[in-house]
This record gives sequence, C-alpha cells and structure tokens, in this order.
Amino acid sequence: MHIFKEIEPLRAFLDEKRKSGLSIGLVPTMGALHAGHLSLIEASKRDNSITICSIFVNPIQFNNPKDFQAYPRFLEKDIALLTQAGCSALFCPEDYTMQTGAYLQVSFGDLEKSMEGSFRPGHFNGVVKVVAKLFHIVEPDTAYFGQKDWQQFVIIRTLVEELKFNVKLSVVETVREADGLALSSRNQRLTDSQRKQAVVLSATLNESRQKLLAGDSIAGIKGLARNKFEAQAGLALEYLEVVNSENLLPLKSVEEADRPILCIAAFVDEVRLIDNMFL
Ligand code: PAJ
Repeated sequence: MHIFKEIEPLRAFLDEKRKSGLSIGLVPTMGALHAGHLSLIEASKRDNSITICSIFVNPIQFNNPKDFQAYPRFLEKDIALLTQAGCSALFCPEDYTMQTGAYLQVSFGDLEKSMEGSFRPGHFNGVVKVVAKLFHIVEPDTAYFGQKDWQQFVIIRTLVEELKFNVKLSVVETVREADGLALSSRNQRLTDSQRKQAVVLSATLNESRQKLLAGDSIAGIKGLARNKFEAQAGLALEYLEVVNSENLLPLKSVEEADRPILCIAAFVDEVRLIDNMFL
C-alpha cells in the first residue's frame, strides 16, 4: 500500500492512475479502524480499481476538546489493517497539511437543526470543510460513507448536489457486534462493563422501532427510552429522534414521512455514542 502524507505526491499518483483510465474510490475516516470502516473499503474495492483511504483526526469537527484528545489513534495498526484489506493507498496528512482557514463557515439550515447539528455546534462545519478538501485533493469517482452517521451523509450529499461536486456518493449499511452494538472507533474507549451497557443504544432503537411498527406514538417511545436510560447509572440519553430521513425534520407521527429513521445519541459515562435505524 502506498502511504502519502503530503498532497502533491498523492495528486501525482492519482493523476497517473486516472490517465490509465482507472476509477478511484475514496473512504474518508478518522482512523482507529474497525470492521465498519473495512466494509466501506470493501465496497470501494468492488466498484473501483483504486481505493484510497484517508485518516485524519480532524480537530475542527470536535466541539469538545476532551473528546478530541481522547480520540483513539492507532496509525500503525490501521496501516496493517488497510494493507491486509487490499487498500491501494492511504492519505494520512499532518495537521499543518490539512489546516483549514479560519474564515469560511458553512451551514446547512434545517438539516443541522436537529440531532448532531444541535448537540454539537460547529461539528458539521468542520466535517464539511475537511470532506470538501479531501474531494478536491483526491477527486474520487465515488466516495463511501456509513449509514451510522446518517445526518453526516445527508449533509455531504447536500454539499455535493448544491455545489456540483463531480463525485458519486455511496452509503454503506452499519456493521454491528453480535449483540447489536454499532461498531465505532469510540467503542475502543469503553471498559468491559461500559461495553456491556453500551448495547442499550441499539436495543432501544430496536425496541422503539418494534413499538412504532405496532402503532405506539413517537412521544410514547421517547418517554420509555428516557426511563430506560435514567434507570441505569452512567448512562445519559442525549436524544432519541424519529425524523424524515430525507430532510431530517423531526416527525410527530411516522405517517408524516415515506422513510422515517430513528436516531439516538447517548453517553456511556464519558463516551458519547450514536446509532440509527430505518423504520
Ligand atoms: P469516522 O468516524 O472514522 O467514520 C468514517 C466512516 O466510517 C464514516 O462514513 C462512518 O459513517 C463510517 N462508519 C463508522 N462506523 C461504521 C459502522 N459501524 N458501519 C459502517 N460504517 C461505519 O465519519 C468520520 O470519521 C468523519 O466525520 C469524516 C467523514 C472522516 C470527516 O472527518
């Protein structure tokens, strides 16, 4: 696997591949790779001749400095996993290479009024600035994102549509542990007992989904979820929302949207986790 820390050598490598008619898939990540990330790499390998993964723990998308400091970083292990997975190239720039200017601010109106947008002010501005920069550097044919960060996907899709980025987007299903916990780099920060508690996110989504399908109200399932989280020390529910998966607007009843999605964010002690499921 080729490893690039600087932009120009990466561009030269990719230009040559493009001239030979090879298609390029991009998988942007923040590292501490797990099987969820690897399923994005697999999807890209299926569709493209060249797959490039980026690893950059993007300081400007962390609204909480403690979360940024504690974010797991395992570059050597990540390189081994990517090599084994057959990834063609890795872009792992230093902060100074990706330095994002202080002036440009992007916002996405209603798309970031709910959920991550409202609980993590400035988060999507940071995500979009780094993703746009990666798109300009790599110019991929297709870029791969996980359903796990559904709001992020919708916002990046809006960026691509509104600014006519010449890139196709592909969304990959969430990879889960056997007990249902969605894989996440932040899971690596959990102790054994926290790890056991963390299953409550996916369990709550599953249970809420079943209840909604059986005719329960959205207000009802939100109340049940609150009670469930309050009953366990160390857990704090930030939100459980049922939104229209296209425009991310919160729903009062599931009939209001063609494709509702349930989204959850919660703390297991210090570690903040998110998950979602389509109805
Ligand atoms: P990161 O959290 O590392 O995730 C990188 C990609 O992997 C995202 O598209 C995410 O949705 C996907 N992913 C995470 N967990 C997954 C799982 N269990 N199953 C399938 N896919 C999963 O998301 C980011 O990084 C950053 O915001 C980034 C887009 C790289 C910009 O900095």
